Amino acid sequence: MELVKLTIDGKEVEVPAGITVLEAAERMGIHIPRLCYDPELSAVGACRICVVEIEGMRNLPASCVTTVAPGMVVRTGTPAVIEARKTILELLVANHPLDCLTCEKLGECKLAAYCYEYGVAKSPFAGEKHDYEMEDSNPFIVRDLNKCILCGKCIRACAEITCRDILDFAYRGFNTKVAPFGDTPYVESDCVFCGNCVAVCPTGALTEKQMMGKGRRWELKRVKTTCPFCGTGCNFDLCIKDDKIVGVASNPDSPVNGRALCIKGRFGWDFVHSDKRLTTPLIKRDGQFVPATWDEALDLIATRLGEIKEKYGPDSFAALSSARCTNEENYLVQKFTRAVMGTNNVDHCART
Ligand code: FES
Repeated sequence: MELVKLTIDGKEVEVPAGITVLEAAERMGIHIPRLCYDPELSAVGACRICVVEIEGMRNLPASCVTTVAPGMVVRTGTPAVIEARKTILELLVANHPLDCLTCEKLGECKLAAYCYEYGVAKSPFAGEKHDYEMEDSNPFIVRDLNKCILCGKCIRACAEITCRDILDFAYRGFNTKVAPFGDTPYVESDCVFCGNCVAVCPTGALTEKQMMGKGRRWELKRVKTTCPFCGTGCNFDLCIKDDKIVGVASNPDSPVNGRALCIKGRFGWDFVHSDKRLTTPLIKRDGQFVPATWDEALDLIATRLGEIKEKYGPDSFAALSSARCTNEENYLVQKFTRAVMGTNNVDHCART
């Protein structure tokens, strides 16, 4: 691997050629703020919050789109850099509702975090503000474009992670907004509601509808789990408040899927607390299902399967298993079928 030697904040470092200044600083434990940069998406250098000083370069380059070069001397926190970042934040909040007290994303909002860090409470730039209507005409995602900073991460997540490519910048200048083709609501577009756009949104512009009003982000305990819906085995975090699941959040340390999820994984968890779930076995008596104990249910199954095997032979039995079960459960199904029922009639929905 070709290595490049450069100096960042007075320390010499050797990093792989081709990485960006932002990534090189990250390797040294230096955090450069970022709003439009995401390690899983292509870099576009849209927000400019990641500017740094590089000796010999005019202006302040965006570190997320500047590749390291031999002998480069980078400074990430000079007065000019701090001033530039502050001005960028002031420009962003000039047209941003400062309703952080009630914003669902407070605690996760990068804009709020950087405003706090750089001491930006309001903008000195007066002017027109957007007054878009909140879009909540679908069951999964609430869009508040007044809070959109046009970083374009949702557009890139849709194109590069989900590969749907339904979003883009629409209109021009002050009226620029992110929209599906024809500027329709999500629900009338080709959106598949995977929510990958929500997962990368750095502000309150995109929010999981199910999580609204369920608790501040810092109040939610995160528990990593595996999706129960198919055999892919995607991981994500369950967001828990008061021992109840209130939402799902992507976990970047998921080896199978990264932060990508589908609609079922991200939004299909509400069955967990459904009062329609069975909590006890049911046995049909006189045409009606009546609650039974596990012992009663298992005894009945064992008796009936034994009778069927006795009367019609082992091959009268077949077991169909499911990718929604764990490997261990599927192993047990085939073991039971072969060793107990005495037949090889066992199949699995993911075989073909
Ligand atoms: Fe570099 Fe936005 S993070 S320009």
